[in-house]
Formats: sequence, C-alpha cells, structure tokens
Amino acid sequence: MSRLVVVSNRVATPGESRAGGLAVGLEAALRERGGIWFGWSGKSVREGGGELHEAREGNIRYVTMDLSRTDLDAYYNGFSNRTLWPLLHFRLDLVDYDRNTRIGYARVNALFADKLAPLLREDDVVWIHDYHLIPLASLLRERGIGCRMGFFLHVPMPSADLAAALPDHARLFSTLYAYDLVGFQTLRDVERFQDYVRLFGGGRVAGDGMLEAPGGRRFRAAAFPIGIDTDQIATEAPRALSKPTVRSLRESLRPRELVIGVDRLDYSKGLPERFRGFARYLERHGSRKRGLTYLQIAPVSRGEVAEYKLLRTELERIAGHINGSHATADWTPLRYVNRNFARGTLTGFYRIARIGLVTPLRDGMNLVAKEYVAAQDPDDPGVLVLSMLAGAAYAMREALLVNPYDLDGVADAIDTAARMPRDERIERWQALMAYLRENDIDAWCRSYLDALMFDVPRKGAGKGT
Ligand code: ADP
Ligand code: G6P
Repeated sequence: MSRLVVVSNRVATPGESRAGGLAVGLEAALRERGGIWFGWSGKSVREGGGELHEAREGNIRYVTMDLSRTDLDAYYNGFSNRTLWPLLHFRLDLVDYDRNTRIGYARVNALFADKLAPLLREDDVVWIHDYHLIPLASLLRERGIGCRMGFFLHVPMPSADLAAALPDHARLFSTLYAYDLVGFQTLRDVERFQDYVRLFGGGRVAGDGMLEAPGGRRFRAAAFPIGIDTDQIATEAPRALSKPTVRSLRESLRPRELVIGVDRLDYSKGLPERFRGFARYLERHGSRKRGLTYLQIAPVSRGEVAEYKLLRTELERIAGHINGSHATADWTPLRYVNRNFARGTLTGFYRIARIGLVTPLRDGMNLVAKEYVAAQDPDDPGVLVLSMLAGAAYAMREALLVNPYDLDGVADAIDTAARMPRDERIERWQALMAYLRENDIDAWCRSYLDALMFDVPRKGAGKGT
C-alpha cells in the first residue's frame, strides 16, 4: 500500500486539544492508517523560518515547520484569514485584499514545497488540505514531483461570481488544476466549482464528468462530506457524565435544561445572530415553566486578526445586554465562556444538553452538529437546531433546520425543541444517528483515498499547470 502524506497548515501534534474541524478530522483519519503529517508547527520565529521538527506517535510521523513572523502575518493572518476565509464564506464585505499578503502566501506555499519535496517518495499519495495551501500541488509538480496528489477543501466553495471578485482569482484557482482529485464537502460546492471552471477558469466539464483544464489536463472534482468518529463519541458520552466538570455543570443548572453552543469565535458561526435569537426566545417564550440556560463555549480563534477582535467585543456587549435584561437573582440565562475544553468534557456537555444550537451563517460542514447528535442518550435524546446554511444540513434533514438570519425562526425552533415529545425526539435522533454511523470519519477517509488511488487516470499528471 502507498504511504500517505497529509499536508495541512494546522497540525494536531500529540497531546493537543485544539478547536477546529480539520485537525480533529485528520487526527482520526491518520490514526487508523498511519503516515506523515506535515504542516506548520504553530510557532513563529523572529527571522528565518523553515526549521523542521519531528515527532512520532503510534504510526504517525509528524513533521512541522516554523514560520517567520513576517511570513506568518502575510500568509496566515493576512491572505488566508483576511482574504480567503471571508471570500470562501460568502463575506465579500469582509475581504481585505493586499498584494503583499498575496505574495507572502505564495512565498510560504513555496517554502512548504521546498521542505516537503525531499521527504517524498515516488509512490506516496499526497493529500493536501484547505485554503491555506491551494497552490501547493502545482509548486510540488514544478519541483518534479509526479505522485498522486489530492486536495480537500474543508470550507465552502463560493459561487463563481463571488470567487471571481478576488483580484487575480485565476492565478490562484487555476493551481487547483494540478491535483488529480479536488474534494469538497457537498455536491453544491462541487457544482459551484464546476461553474467557476467553466465561466471564469477557461476549462470545461467533460462528458464523463471529469474536469478539463485549459491545457487539456484532466482531473476529478467530487463531494466527500466529512464525518466524525461516531462510535467513539457515543461510547465516551455516558462515561463523561462522571467527570467533575460535567457533574458540576449539571448540578448548577437545576431545575433548568441546557442549551449548548460550541464554536470557535468566528464571524462565520453567526454568534451575534444566535445570541439575539435566544434573546428573542426569552422575550416571547421566557415565562414557560420549563426554563432554559444557554451555555455558549467560544474559544478565541485567530485573535490577531482585526475582524475577530471586533467580534469578541461585540459578543461581550450583546451577552452583557441579554443578561442585564433577563437575568434574575438566581438565574443567568446566557453563560458565555471563551476557553477550550478537553474533548471528553465537551462530549459530556453535549450529553446533558436538551438542545444543541448550531447556527452558522455559512459553514463547510460543521462537526459540532454531528458530535452533538452522537453524544445523545438513545432513550432520551436532545434536539439539534441546525442552520440550513451549514454543509451538515444537506444530509441531516431530521434536525430542526433554521435560517440563522431569521431571529424569530431561531426563537421558534428553540421553543419547538424545548417542547418536543420524547417519541419524536427519538425518531429524529435514530435517523440522524444511522446516517452518522454509516458516514463516519473512516468512511470519509476511505472513500476519498479510494477515489484518489483508483478513480483518476494518471495520464498527463507529471506536469503542473
Ligand atoms: P470549525 O472547523 O470551523 O472550527 P467544526 O464544527 O467543523 O468548525 O469543528 C470544530 C471542532 O473543534 C469540533 O470537533 C469541536 O469539538 C472542536 N471544538 C470547538 N470548540 C472547542 C473547545 N472549546 N474545546 C475543545 N474543542 C473544541
Ligand atoms: C477551520 C478551517 C481549518 C482550521 C480551523 C481552525 O476548520 O477549515 O483549516 O484549521 O478552522 O482554525 P485555525 O486558524 O486555528 O487553524
């Protein structure tokens, strides 16, 4: 079997508990199969950069690289997270385009290629992840690397017109033509990418569904919705109830029920709208005996980026306002916590929550929605309220689907969830759980790698575009 080499900006090195779907998903995928995981070390150095560090755990070899402060600012804080992230989440209003950060992005991708190329063997399968590293395959091919290379975009592909609003968009997106397989979360993302290729990318969709780049190179684009380690979470959840942090949360809630939200502090997650939706519920339905307490866990993410700092201030203000208006001497309706928890503890929190509130304005998939469902008690499950604008909503139709911009709709869904009879909760949960069992993280990994190894022809793969 070929050796698997996974490349991503964020690497979950041994012992780290880090928020973010990519690291969580890849950790689970690599644990099974083994291989190399190559990426950024998470550290910046004053000058230089490019130093490699090695670690090993089980059958995974971690190779990580430091970046200089200047490179990190341009590539990660700049082009990746102030240009591409908002663009890919349909937020043109937040896109900050700067030629210097674009150049820094290209420079760091070239550094990745320089450091990775000597580690590769001809029969390796290289799987590159997410928007930080779009040009990497074309740069590796320029360095003579001919092995199979796949890309997976964890975030949404925006519609063609939005993608084409990026200055120099063709220079960036045409580097995707150097892969053998480009994977997306949903079929809608694939369709939007095909539109882009046809309308702005100079390529075409061939009769057999393959994509053809302007020079004639053929490659495949397909949907591979990422899953979670469903059985592991389902097994862990009842055990997590005995953890001290979980027990004390449960005791502190009585007699009320818990509504839970768990998200990185990111504007794509729709947190201000969600807070306001909950406030609307309190205004309209708050007198019900069955009171709710909403716990929002939101660890700070990308804290050096201006838009994220602003969001943090805004959320503090809204949370203060909601509690100021609705709290009583013995009840704080909204508990807002900016920290990471051990994964097992989070699983316990999900288990005791009657309602899981997952209402991003846009999300590639959203693993929290899946984790929440997997952690429920089969005999008395909670209800998932899910944004129809998250990739997860394409298959999770038995959740209560909401439009996250519709505050009354969110308030109504909270009310419906709080009053839902047990039979209906069980019926919905069983359907969701059957889907999550069949489409777990192993299935995701297997189906992607099978497609990369067996479904794409290798003719003309030697040279990039
Ligand atoms: P994103 O990838 O945009 O952050 P996802 O919902 O797909 O969104 O994935 C988030 C992942 O990070 C989930 O696996 C979730 O359990 C984890 N996570 C989120 N918040 C925390 C936290 N406070 N502590 C630990 N893990 C977290
Ligand atoms: C999303 C992105 C990942 C990223 C994660 C956490 O899941 O798709 O690529 O790793 O957010 O963000 P961070 O900037 O901390 O890596």
